[in-house]
Amino acid sequence: MGFATNSTSIDILSGPDSLVISDRDNHASIAVGRKFSGASIDTFVHNSAEDLERVIRRNIARGNINKARRLSSKGEPVPYVPWKKILIVVEGTYSMSGEFPPLADIVRIKKKYGCYLYVDEAHSIGALGHTGRGICDKLGIDFSDVDILMGTFTKSFGSIGGYIAGDSKTIDNLRKYSLSSIISEPLCSTAAQQVLSALQVLRYTKEGEARIMSLHENAIYFRKHLSDMGFVTLGEDDSPVIPLMLYNPAKIAPMSRLLLERNIAAVVVGFPATPLLEARVRFCISAAHTKQDLDYILTHLDDIGDIVGCKYRKKEKLQEGKREKKSEDGSSDPPLSAESELTDCDDDPIIRDLSEEDKLDVVLKEKRSGGVQSECENEDGIDCDMVKKDREIEGFVLNVGK
Ligand SMILES: Cc1ncc(COP(=O)(O)O)c(C=O)c1O
Repeated sequence: MGFATNSTSIDILSGPDSLVISDRDNHASIAVGRKFSGASIDTFVHNSAEDLERVIRRNIARGNINKARRLSSKGEPVPYVPWKKILIVVEGTYSMSGEFPPLADIVRIKKKYGCYLYVDEAHSIGALGHTGRGICDKLGIDFSDVDILMGTFTKSFGSIGGYIAGDSKTIDNLRKYSLSSIISEPLCSTAAQQVLSALQVLRYTKEGEARIMSLHENAIYFRKHLSDMGFVTLGEDDSPVIPLMLYNPAKIAPMSRLLLERNIAAVVVGFPATPLLEARVRFCISAAHTKQDLDYILTHLDDIGDIVGCKYRKKEKLQEGKREKKSEDGSSDPPLSAESELTDCDDDPIIRDLSEEDKLDVVLKEKRSGGVQSECENEDGIDCDMVKKDREIEGFVLNVGK
């Protein structure tokens, strides 16, 4: 499994003299691997190359403080202890948001500061790029610029187990010391053959190419229709991971039950896999889905979305009408200094819990109208009023729960 691949490899690839710098949205298996290794950890803002660079610079400047403190004898100045290794860990496609990492920038930064780069391709291998070779293929990154490419066989390959790709020294090291390798049985031959056959089809046949194409088309089709219906989705247009936002954790159970009743298999996700107020349902689109399959799901989702109340995006027509009205009035958006405005609204118990982006939208709307609006939408057409109302209810539920 990918979980064991991450947790028993990062453990060997880093140690007490290393620093692991992890994207905040990385999968839990990465954190488990880091814990086993005893390496220090720091995180950077999800998908922000700028913040990654800031975190690297700060840590290089401080050095390994924990070790320095241990080394210094009482009363003597704490010595500067440099890191032996800095390992940056990102995902090829984020499992909870469907987003791709800014890999070109990350590669540039890792080269600049002499770090190592580990990319978890659980959701990108077999799904992205012309021949399914993953995020490097998709974004035109030289494979040799990534030190470790990790993947699972449980998704695109329909098997079990996982892999690590890297230079021969790294792989030899993992073979010798990784617990998965030394105290766990290797893949059974049928599972290994399943992986090899899937690779063969993907890389060398027209069928493989057609499957990648239809996966992309299906993802774009499905995402677009969800958006047109009023749902909020995350991620890149052609990402096969399509999260539909529920926000309110109280909506997880009804959504799950209604989908199951209609024979639709999807994963509902809530805290701790997501922030508490960012519950979602995740659809993983396959190349094998036909247009009829997708239309069946979309028709039911249209109905379920009304029952559960999770169509947070205002319908296109509504927005267009409003935009026309606004331009007739001649009103325009006042300039906004995002940071100062966001700090001010932190006093509001409801707004405080919104994401930075949602907060900005609420503030923007209030600024436009000169006061609290009964109705608001952001540039993406997300109905902030609805999100706010949900959160009021949720706040009540959470308080009662205490
Ligand atoms: C990014 C990422 N890494 C690792 C894993 C673990 O893979 P597996 O389910 O094969 O254990 C997952 C699982 O979804 C994942 O999303």
